[in-house]
Amino acid sequence: MSNRSPLILALDTSDLKTAHAWIENTQDSIGVYKLGLEFFCTFGSKGVEEIVAQHNVDIFLDLKLHDIPHTVAGATRAVSHLKPRFLTVHASGGSAMITQAVESAPETDITAVTILTSLSEEDVRNIGFANSALQSAAQLASLAVHAGARAIVCSPFEIEAIRKSVGDKPLIITPGVRPQDSQGGDDQVRVMTPAQALSRGANYVVIGRPITSLWSQGPLAMKEKAAQILAESI
Ligand code: C5P
Repeated sequence: MSNRSPLILALDTSDLKTAHAWIENTQDSIGVYKLGLEFFCTFGSKGVEEIVAQHNVDIFLDLKLHDIPHTVAGATRAVSHLKPRFLTVHASGGSAMITQAVESAPETDITAVTILTSLSEEDVRNIGFANSALQSAAQLASLAVHAGARAIVCSPFEIEAIRKSVGDKPLIITPGVRPQDSQGGDDQVRVMTPAQALSRGANYVVIGRPITSLWSQGPLAMKEKAAQILAESI
């Protein structure tokens, strides 16, 4: 199984061979590997099975399920044999949906996504939320934890408010992090360093391109970058 690193590497590639190579070259520094919708829609459960069989790593299956409770329970059961460490659902699917997911995959930490950080305050109001994105995220996190979710995904800027609303036990996972020496040039706008997010109370940070973009410079460059980011994070 994976080590205790707080880094989750986003395997955002639609090439299976590349995903394998990224894992091989970063396993010393990465705790969990995130497979998202693009990977799952391309390779399905078989692709995830292949990754687990070959590398024996912990998986964050980022499917962001959101449907009626019965359907989400069925979808969760359908992937439960993969034993992902984390499986995401949208907190806004409500308590019954979250509880059914929790009951359908007892070995997995059902992980609730609160408010997508791609949404602006205006978007959040237009969708119909009465409160700000921060208040709505804290409220959704609390609802999700009461329904049985064991982890929450949120922006690094929401960590403290969410920690206050859910207590110490639930795991907090944040994307939107960039190492200190990051050159920018991608689409993450409001960011923190992994160390800042972890010191504010996150348990894991999700990081992708600051590590995976080094692939074009060769396996060693990628391996060293992952090790450097881990060293700066803890
Ligand atoms: O490459 P980068 O470090 O930006 O990758 C971050 C990962 O986290 C991507 O898989 C992205 O989809 C995901 N993510 C994010 N921001 C969110 C939610 C998810 O960057 N608010």
